[in-house]
Amino acid sequence: MSTETAWSDRFGDSLMKSMGSPFALLTRGDGCYVWDESGKQYLDFLAGIAVNSLGHAHPAFVDAVSRQAATLAHVSNYFTTAPQLELAERLKRITGAGAEGRVYFGNSGAEANEAAFKLARLNKTGSRHRILAVHDSFHGRTMGALALTGKPALRDAFEPMPSGVEHIDSTIEALERSIDGSVSALILEPIKGEAGVIELPEGFLVRARELTAEHDVLLILDEIQTGAGRTGSWFAYEQFGIVPDAVTMAKGMGGGFPIGALVTFGWASELFQRGMHGSTFGGNPLATATANAVLAEIESAGLIQNAAARGAEIAQSIREIDSPHVAEVRGRGLLIGVGLASPIAAAVSAAALEAGLIVNAANDSSIRIAPPLIVGDDEVRLFAERFREALDAVPSA
Ligand SMILES: Cc1ncc(COP(=O)(O)O)c(C=O)c1O
Repeated sequence: MSTETAWSDRFGDSLMKSMGSPFALLTRGDGCYVWDESGKQYLDFLAGIAVNSLGHAHPAFVDAVSRQAATLAHVSNYFTTAPQLELAERLKRITGAGAEGRVYFGNSGAEANEAAFKLARLNKTGSRHRILAVHDSFHGRTMGALALTGKPALRDAFEPMPSGVEHIDSTIEALERSIDGSVSALILEPIKGEAGVIELPEGFLVRARELTAEHDVLLILDEIQTGAGRTGSWFAYEQFGIVPDAVTMAKGMGGGFPIGALVTFGWASELFQRGMHGSTFGGNPLATATANAVLAEIESAGLIQNAAARGAEIAQSIREIDSPHVAEVRGRGLLIGVGLASPIAAAVSAAALEAGLIVNAANDSSIRIAPPLIVGDDEVRLFAERFREALDAVPSA
């Protein structure tokens, strides 16, 4: 039995059938590269789906985890710790929530959105019973987050969903038609990552902000994929000139350590009252110390600026590839979507893997590219070579 058969069989025999078969068994990482058990090296331009902000085994990450694990890993929520306070204060600063901001810590994106869902339910002025989200959105796999997710294929097997969520088209007309005093919250991804890195229409977020403010509806932005500097600003909403009532984040803020957060602004900070929500692990010192180190490194090493600059270079390098497969290049900073001319995304990502490059097929006709924020010249160059090789290897449909 080859080694490959051995690990894939073991996976199939023991892991829940909800996941597809893995592409490889990875054994270690360093910077923007990972290696599999056969010793093959891959340029990691997915970063654990927008998670490994500092790449793999970054000294700031390793040092923070090791030090905090050796000092105080976990305490109950009957106590606070210096890393927890520091991270809450940091998130208030980088989101712009300021003095009125409040932070809730969970352990994942879905948990951050569960907290956001409960926040929406607490907006009770008048008779509000509707929560709005958009078609083709993705907010996570737990029941509340799934109810918010605008992909029926993911929801259908698990009906009935928690009630009250309506999915609308991503159009300004749909916003104007749907938002009134019966709505408690509107939740949006500023850029739809899982949908293939799709922007909302021009002016959509600004109009959403105007209408939600007018009707006392909470505007909740899911920046789980777009946040922590990935799109070329701490949060994508800064680029659209709006301020939300709440923002959820996870993924890149922990750089590989599981953590998520809900940050509220202004009046939204008054909604949760004592005893209404909690999590055993949420905000523990190990997770918060690591997130502090990751966010501090992003700031001090200029990685947000790097994301903007390298993102533009990568997008340009894709546009310069003379391939009939590339129809469109989308996205901001280091969250890039490549729209393909036909539904060959799985074949392209498989060919990329063969060429030593990790990217992902977000759907049948979109490739998602989300490298670590530390990418430099060498990686941008190598990416262009390997991505071209992958595209060349896939025949036209
Ligand atoms: C926009 C968005 N929201 C929520 C989630 C769910 O996060 P998690 O997988 O950490 O639960 C994701 C994950 O891909 C996401 O991209």
